[in-house]
Amino acid sequence: MSIHDVKMLELPKFNDPRGNLSFVENLSQIPFEIQRTYWLFDVPGGEARGGHAYRNTAEVVIAISGSFDVVVDDGKERRTFVLNRSYYGLYIPKGLWREMINFSTNSFALEFASTHYDKNDYIRNYEEFSKMKANGEI
Ligand code: TYD
Repeated sequence: MSIHDVKMLELPKFNDPRGNLSFVENLSQIPFEIQRTYWLFDVPGGEARGGHAYRNTAEVVIAISGSFDVVVDDGKERRTFVLNRSYYGLYIPKGLWREMINFSTNSFALEFASTHYDKNDYIRNYEEFSKMKANGEI
């Protein structure tokens, strides 16, 4: 997978004077079957999360509140995606390096993943990641 496979998904949004509503469903807005949902909250200013790649996990990341940046890297190119609306989701396929930075106060990141948690799915060393990418191993 390359940086060009990363997609900003515009999610359905029902504008309503009572408050707006958005939703996602498996294999529809989310391009995989959701096996796991987790979230990041109370991230202190200046902290970064998720400096790693997954061998097999695809994810969709949503800024439910506040904002943060997701830096995605395919070993050749690096791009930064700003998430600041709860009706956009960033689809990150497997095999890409990703890092989350610039969390605003009270930001809340919701993440849908295509796999159950498995620590062996992580590549946490960037050099190792870029070698694996260059060799076509991921
Ligand atoms: P980790 O994915 O390493 O966080 P980050 O990459 O953003 O720094 O997860 C931190 C801890 O949480 C780690 O000890 C494992 C645990 N964890 C789970 O148990 N289940 C999960 O679904 C996730 C994402 C993490």
